[in-house]
Amino acid sequence: MKARKIKENIYWMGAVDWDRRLFDSLIPLPDGTSYNSYLIKGSEKTVLLDSVDPQMADVLMSQLENVPHIDYIIAHHAEQDHSGTIPQVLEKYPNVKVIASPKGKGMLIDHLLIPEEKFMTVEDGETLSLGNKTLEFIHTPWVHWPETMVTYLREDKILFTCDFFGSHLATSDLYVTDEGRVYEAAKRYYAEIMMPFRTVIRKNLEKLKSRKIDLIAPSHGPMYDKPSFIVEAYNDWVSEIPKNEVVIPYISMHGSTKKMVEYLVSALAEKGITVHQFDLSVTDLGKLAIALVDAATIVIGTPTVHVGPHPAIHYAAHLANALRPKLRFASVIGSYGWSSKAIEQIAGMIPNLKVEILEPVLARGYPKEADFKALDRLADTIGEKHREHGLF
Ligand code: FEO
Repeated sequence: MKARKIKENIYWMGAVDWDRRLFDSLIPLPDGTSYNSYLIKGSEKTVLLDSVDPQMADVLMSQLENVPHIDYIIAHHAEQDHSGTIPQVLEKYPNVKVIASPKGKGMLIDHLLIPEEKFMTVEDGETLSLGNKTLEFIHTPWVHWPETMVTYLREDKILFTCDFFGSHLATSDLYVTDEGRVYEAAKRYYAEIMMPFRTVIRKNLEKLKSRKIDLIAPSHGPMYDKPSFIVEAYNDWVSEIPKNEVVIPYISMHGSTKKMVEYLVSALAEKGITVHQFDLSVTDLGKLAIALVDAATIVIGTPTVHVGPHPAIHYAAHLANALRPKLRFASVIGSYGWSSKAIEQIAGMIPNLKVEILEPVLARGYPKEADFKALDRLADTIGEKHREHGLF
């Protein structure tokens, strides 16, 4: 794709990666992604904001063919999907200075071996004049690395945010056109990499409040010409108040655990509780991460394999523990053949979750009447707990 004009002397550049399906060899990208760079031509200085993933360096370099000179490249974030083509940009423009936060400078030297003399570091709140345009650098750590910052273009009221507010979404639209689709992609992105840092992200959101923002320009996905859409969504996601929702990741080998899950889902739904059920043998873990953003309760469903939980549960429990969602309650249900340590083992896998453990339900073999009654009691307890916490 060619560079595209946003406003006079401000351009979108970068690459749309329609076909990428995995990020960090870990995160599913069902809708592809984009690596957005931006070019601002001031009356005296020209600046490029972020670069692109090195796999698509040729796209950015071809867009820069018509740009004879740049003075600065801003590296908001040292991760390679935005910084990886900076060395090539520096080869083309040997006098360019790389602008980064002090932490960002160290990380760019570590990861990309950029020589130290190429850098100009900026402190929180520092400004840079491009002549008729002024850039303000705002440190916004932990979205999602410690060095991250954003840039506010004062005269045009544009906030360039890199990963912050981004969405893994390949699209030919410069701006959000389908809010539902972007909401899900942005929530997935938040859930997968930013949720563990929501306390500091809350502070970053507070910090940005005083600026009048007409346009948010992230480095993944479309731009937000109605910024309140994504800012309000983030305010909701980072709040510590969960919703009246239960997440049930489970796996079943011979149908017993599945039967218990289905029974519990029905019992919870009858009480007016929203339930998200995920069969881990087929689910996209990004969907599970999205559901964990809001849920008050997690119930893990597992059969017993070699005395402990099924291996797929280890992965899901590790994910939930690492993402540190705002869960308040947890429980375990499932079946076993002759003995089980599944509950103790799962409890040991989620030390980061500050949850109250609710009475688990383990059935020997296929669930029987007493097991279904125990599931009814668990559903009652979840309902009572949610009500006590004012969730419905
Ligand atoms: Fe889009 Fe953290 O890189």
